Amino acid sequence: MAETVPFRSQLLPSLTLILLSILQSDSATSRIIHLPNQSDSKNFTISVIDFGAVGDGVHYDTVPIQTAIDSCPPTTHCRVTFPPGTYLTATLRLKSGVVLDVQRNATILGGTKLEDYPEESDKWYVVLAEEAENVGITGGGEINGQGLRFVKRFDERKNVMVSWNRTGACLGDECRPRLVGFIGCRNVKVWDVKLTEPAYWCLHVVRCVNTSILDVSIYGNFDSPNNDGIDIEDSNNTVITRCKINTGDDAICPKTSTGPLYNLTATDCWIRTKSSAIKLGSASWFDFKGLVFDNITIVESHRGLGLQIRDGGNVSDITFSNINISTRYYDPSWWGRAEPIYVTTCPRDSNTKAGSISNIQFVNITATSENGVFLSGSKGGVLSHLKFVNVNLTYRRWTNYADGLLDYRPGCQGLVNHSTAGIMMEHIEGLEVENINMRWSEDRTGRWNNPLYFRPSTVNNISFLNFHSGLYKL
Ligand SMILES: *[C@@H]1O[C@H](CO)[C@@H](O)[C@H](O)[C@H]1NC(C)=O
Ligand SMILES: *[C@@H]1O[C@H](CO)[C@@H](O)[C@H](O)[C@H]1NC(C)=O
Ligand SMILES: *[C@@H]1O[C@H](CO)[C@@H](O)[C@H](O)[C@H]1NC(C)=O
Ligand SMILES: *[C@@H]1O[C@H](CO)[C@@H](O)[C@H](O)[C@H]1NC(C)=O
Ligand SMILES: *[C@@H]1O[C@H](CO)[C@@H](O)[C@H](O)[C@H]1NC(C)=O
Ligand SMILES: *[C@@H]1O[C@H](CO)[C@@H](O)[C@H](O)[C@H]1NC(C)=O
Ligand SMILES: *[C@@H]1O[C@H](CO)[C@@H](O)[C@H](O)[C@H]1NC(C)=O
Ligand SMILES: *[C@@H]1O[C@H](CO)[C@@H](O)[C@H](O)[C@H]1NC(C)=O
Ligand SMILES: *[C@@H]1O[C@H](CO)[C@@H](O)[C@H](O)[C@H]1NC(C)=O
Ligand SMILES: *[C@@H]1O[C@H](CO)[C@@H](O)[C@H](O)[C@H]1NC(C)=O
Ligand SMILES: *[C@@H]1O[C@H](CO)[C@@H](O)[C@H](O)[C@H]1NC(C)=O
Ligand SMILES: *[C@@H]1O[C@H](CO)[C@@H](O)[C@H](O)[C@H]1NC(C)=O
Repeated sequence: MAETVPFRSQLLPSLTLILLSILQSDSATSRIIHLPNQSDSKNFTISVIDFGAVGDGVHYDTVPIQTAIDSCPPTTHCRVTFPPGTYLTATLRLKSGVVLDVQRNATILGGTKLEDYPEESDKWYVVLAEEAENVGITGGGEINGQGLRFVKRFDERKNVMVSWNRTGACLGDECRPRLVGFIGCRNVKVWDVKLTEPAYWCLHVVRCVNTSILDVSIYGNFDSPNNDGIDIEDSNNTVITRCKINTGDDAICPKTSTGPLYNLTATDCWIRTKSSAIKLGSASWFDFKGLVFDNITIVESHRGLGLQIRDGGNVSDITFSNINISTRYYDPSWWGRAEPIYVTTCPRDSNTKAGSISNIQFVNITATSENGVFLSGSKGGVLSHLKFVNVNLTYRRWTNYADGLLDYRPGCQGLVNHSTAGIMMEHIEGLEVENINMRWSEDRTGRWNNPLYFRPSTVNNISFLNFHSGLYKL
């Protein structure tokens, strides 16, 4: 293998020419590049092996892989295949029309050195597509960020991570590469692929339109901070279906930083996280509108369905339906206090306004949790027209972490000592509740068996239809 590499490398400059001449001559075969059916098509398949990738997990395959991608003729559909093997690489850049076909038993392995990534820290991804259309990743294989190599000290409460801030490359402590990024793209498709061990966020979709994410499974270390699952930012028309996410930080996390986010649907997913399973925010400078979350199972998470609005963006028309949740306490250094449902808006600091939250529905929800539902608007940002229909809440304690704290983080009032309740409500205008069944485990309820808490004079226009709360024996 090693001997053939230099030989192939010498051929590299001429490959594009060969490709083009094949295109023009309709010639059927090539020994160097596998182009299965040239007679029909604008569809190409090329293998990174033919460009000299060795796939041994030791030598960098960056140049052969990038050359393969760059050799795809423009305005075609081009599949760049990775046969079984482990392809260590620095940042790879996709371009329009290219789909990475990472086959079963093939792994793209992200480098762990600062020089493996571009100069600007906002371009630190193992795989990055910018301003491209018709791009994607598939094939049943894996993209792995070697997140464990970024752990400075393992700690089951929360790992301490390496930060490249010391080099001055970026600020703060969240200074590590993400795994996969699509920035300013159209028609993105990520399907049938495993994304594992991100050093920081895993799949990041920014300012994109028409994105589908299907049959993607995400695995990140449960103790590592910031290894989010899917972060959808400032993007329209996104569909996420049949995802499986097991990671330390937020699993599905829509955000708005430079523009609004419209029309996101996530269905048929399974989630476990030490933070929020679904979280809108906390970056929330612009509006969120038209989001649907349906048929989702959330297990052993620190928070279930969360709206953590802090920067003045307004949220409306959101539906959560057919969702089973179990939430429990973890170390309080993680945001989340075992709330199955958490709807909050408050100003992050004295320079921000509170955004409003309106028209939010929760239908067919079942939860077993160590803490109650938290619905908290604020003076400048009320919660309006919230609706809960067919909701079964079972409350019991099974870990030994302390309770009795309201979690307003980040910013706002921070963590506040307060008795707990089945549903805690403040600054709400319009709340409709229909068929709620609250069950309290008989043991250890002393501190929090208070079905409903209203902050006086801040909750208006509420209706309760068929609300039941009672003790049960284990
Ligand atoms: C090439 O494509 C044509 C038309 O789609 C198809 O009939 C033919 O079987 C294909 N040939 C091969 C070798 O795949
Ligand atoms: C070419 O690829 C595109 C995208 O994968 C697909 O929709 C189309 O059917 C393919 N066309 C042919 C002729 O194979
Ligand atoms: C993948 O690896 C497994 C275990 O080594 C093997 O059983 C399987 O046949 C491989 N599959 C492919 C598509 O190479
Ligand atoms: C760099 O990151 C570490 C965490 O790994 C953090 O403790 C430290 O405060 C950060 N330094 C700066 C200057 O942001
Ligand atoms: C999403 O749609 C909104 C409303 O039409 C628009 O303002 C925004 O620019 C769109 N975002 C993108 C990335 O196209
Ligand atoms: C997104 O998809 C819709 C429906 O297929 C299409 O009408 C629209 O043009 C697409 N938008 C972009 C920016 O490609
Ligand atoms: C969001 O979806 C609605 C309903 O399908 C559609 O009318 C609207 O144009 C979409 N918004 C954007 C920004 O694509
Ligand atoms: C719900 O999602 C699961 C996958 O998590 C899927 O197997 C099941 O068919 C979905 N149910 C419905 C009613 O769509
Ligand atoms: C929720 O649990 C119920 C009862 O166990 C089950 O019938 C339903 O399919 C589950 N739904 C989801 C989305 O997990
Ligand atoms: C949110 O709504 C308020 C009241 O309508 C408005 O003043 C504010 O500009 C909106 N925020 C954004 C980010 O558009
Ligand atoms: C809630 O519990 C009741 C009684 O056990 C059951 O009939 C109903 O289907 C449950 N609803 C949900 C959404 O799980
Ligand atoms: C809620 O569950 C009921 C009974 O299973 C079902 O008929 C209804 O369609 C569900 N509602 C939604 C919004 O999925």
